[in-house]
Amino acid sequence: MKVIGLMSGTSADGVDAALVDIQGTGHNLKIKLSAFRTFPYPSSFRVRLLHAMTHGTVADVCHLNAALGEWFARAAWKLLKSAAVSPHHVALIGSHGQTLHHLPAPRRESVLGAIRSTLQLGEPAVIAERTGITTVADFRTRDVAAGGQGAPLTPYLHYLLFRHPSRTRLVINIGGIANLTYLPARGSIDKIRAFDTGPGNMVIDGIVRLVTGGRQEFDRGGRLASRGKPDEALMRTLLRHPYLRRRPPKSTGREEFGERFIASLVKLGHDAGLTDADMVSTATAFTARTIADAARFLPGRVDEVLICGGGARNPTLMRMLQEMWEDTPVRAVESLGWDGRALEAIAFAVSAYQTMRGVPCSLPRVTGAKRAVVLGTIVPGR
Ligand SMILES: Nc1ncnc2c1ncn2[C@@H]1O[C@H](COP(=O)(O)OP(=O)(O)O)[C@@H](O)[C@H]1O
Ligand SMILES: [Mg+2]
Repeated sequence: MKVIGLMSGTSADGVDAALVDIQGTGHNLKIKLSAFRTFPYPSSFRVRLLHAMTHGTVADVCHLNAALGEWFARAAWKLLKSAAVSPHHVALIGSHGQTLHHLPAPRRESVLGAIRSTLQLGEPAVIAERTGITTVADFRTRDVAAGGQGAPLTPYLHYLLFRHPSRTRLVINIGGIANLTYLPARGSIDKIRAFDTGPGNMVIDGIVRLVTGGRQEFDRGGRLASRGKPDEALMRTLLRHPYLRRRPPKSTGREEFGERFIASLVKLGHDAGLTDADMVSTATAFTARTIADAARFLPGRVDEVLICGGGARNPTLMRMLQEMWEDTPVRAVESLGWDGRALEAIAFAVSAYQTMRGVPCSLPRVTGAKRAVVLGTIVPGR
């Protein structure tokens, strides 16, 4: 079966679109990536999207939901066109959408009690209408309704692709936020541990945007960071962030490591007389440290570390991670033949496939939900 997976991560850099061939039943799936592309948003759209995450009006949210639906539908169309595949041959689209807000910690509501919530935009009705293809979306909300964090959801795919009979593996996805999946050797699905470690590229991107006055969106090739020096005192201050000490299950987002955190880091850096390069270097070292430190929440040692997501393209970050793991090899998933940028999009293609078969692919021990649930909202195609 041909399935398209669509994803726009917390970096809000664009739509990742994967065309995936899936076969099989239960947790025994054969998964093959046959095409992958990223469709970046125009810079002005990205700016409005990031702005809406903290200061959006109800009208902004309403409009962006439909506009994102159109971007997702276009991404699906263009992917099919470049792969020379007709939409008639595609059975399903799994669309994650764009997280606008994520509030996994319960808030008290009178009469109702504790409420958790998460909001992904990118109207699936628009995607189904434009493509004619049955679309599954809103994967996180069902897990949240079942008492979970609604995140991370990619560990299921990590398990399908990377479990190993004799090696304990750690898969780390470095997107805007970083999340890790612990796959013990010979381990069954209920032995998986996974959670968000904290920022991935979010803090690095935010600082680069500030110090370059918006001319650069991220630290291409880790070049700025490699020219500076991490400031130890500032690192210690940053590492006191309460999220980093919280025990899993846990998940985070822009609410905790976005604009406000970045602005305070830049202020502290300026007060300490750091150069722009030192500041980016400190943010990169801080990010690497939070990822490596998260290993303290794991039940055992790991034999290898596999990196995916945009962060794998930052050599300075990769070098710092390897230094922190010392003798344990740290490699990009490309070394196993997978395109690390595509994994999240593949994950939502696989989730859609499982949803149509009634197979749960949330991991309650990972998200903290009361039970494993079949994820998503289904919008029929034509
Ligand atoms: N060549 C590169 N050099 C440095 N960083 C990069 C490079 N390519 C991508 N990135 C980083 O990866 C981020 C996008 O990663 P991605 O996995 O798409 O995140 P998300 O899932 O949050 O959208 C960019 O914002 C940037 O920080
Ligand atoms: Mg992205």
